Amino acid sequence: MVDTSDAWITERTGIKERRILKGEGLGTSHMGAEAVRGLLSKTATKPEDIDLLICATTTPDYVFPSTANLVCDMVGVRNIGSFDVQAACSGFIYAVTIATQFISNGHYRKIVVVGADKMSAIIDYTDRATCVIFGDGAGAVLIEPAKSTNGIIDALIRSDGAGAVHLHQKAGGSRMPPSPETVAKRLHYVHQEGAAVYKFAIARMAEIAGEILTRNQLNGSMIDWLVPHQANKRIIEATAERMGISMDRVMVTIQKYGNTTAATIPLCLWDYEARLKPGDKIILAAFGGGFTWGAVYLTWAYDGAKAANGHARL
Ligand code: UT7
Repeated sequence: MVDTSDAWITERTGIKERRILKGEGLGTSHMGAEAVRGLLSKTATKPEDIDLLICATTTPDYVFPSTANLVCDMVGVRNIGSFDVQAACSGFIYAVTIATQFISNGHYRKIVVVGADKMSAIIDYTDRATCVIFGDGAGAVLIEPAKSTNGIIDALIRSDGAGAVHLHQKAGGSRMPPSPETVAKRLHYVHQEGAAVYKFAIARMAEIAGEILTRNQLNGSMIDWLVPHQANKRIIEATAERMGISMDRVMVTIQKYGNTTAATIPLCLWDYEARLKPGDKIILAAFGGGFTWGAVYLTWAYDGAKAANGHARL
């Protein structure tokens, strides 16, 4: 489709494969619903027990209703609050941060957080600077009150709207509604100035992860797992190095899925779950369009091997 090579993509990004949602009329909600169905079955949770569902996405099925509303309908979750969070690649961190507030203030006991994006819907497959990077995917987590001292301990979110110039989709919103002209000019696709975003991504992700370490009296050597947003293997490596975390303690799935925006972190947790042990100290960190960035510090609450097999949790 474009003038590129496997060598360039592998060397510059670390990506070998991606998943693309195919099928007429399928949107982000279809992947989100599939992830939530799997989550409910694995955790033996009934749809009627869910108190709130938040979906982080930048590629909603529609401008409205929200993708969260659609996912609820598709999985049979009724009469609860549900809404989307849009913070691009940091969306999952933002959504987890919001969910944590509702759990810690006692309002809700079971919150589903979905990270889902059908990036193939907004990628220009004639633009080699972006079309080799992004993929489609979804993941979901269930957040509940802690049964032990393990759980989500701290979260930080940040943004800087001045970054919009470097990473955005120009048309399709209220500032530039769709028209024959916007379509002809290919303005409904991701515009990314890769090199500029790259610099901010490393600096901000390492900075916020460092801040969350410091305010929890931790350093990199005390962390069992870093779960970074999967935008580029070189960004992941540079962030880990700045944090003093060796790569054998960093979750990396970019080679399989590419950059799936809000889905990268839940997909990492899904892939690595069997290796997680109760008490593992984990940092989630992301950077994305906005600019937005954020980090979460948690200690893992379950026996990962049992949970990954869908067995009862500890
Ligand atoms: O997830 C949200 C946040 N996003 C990110 O964090 C992404 C951050 N940025 C990146 O990951 C990297 O900047 C990219 C992977 C997007 C690009 O890598 P880069 O090393 O920064 O490349 P570049 O944009 O500086 O381009 C270097 C060269 C250019 O050619 P010249 O001008 O040196 O002749 C590009 O035209 O590579 C060229 N190029 C390509 N060549 C082959 C750009 N894309 C391709 C391609 N195949 N697909």
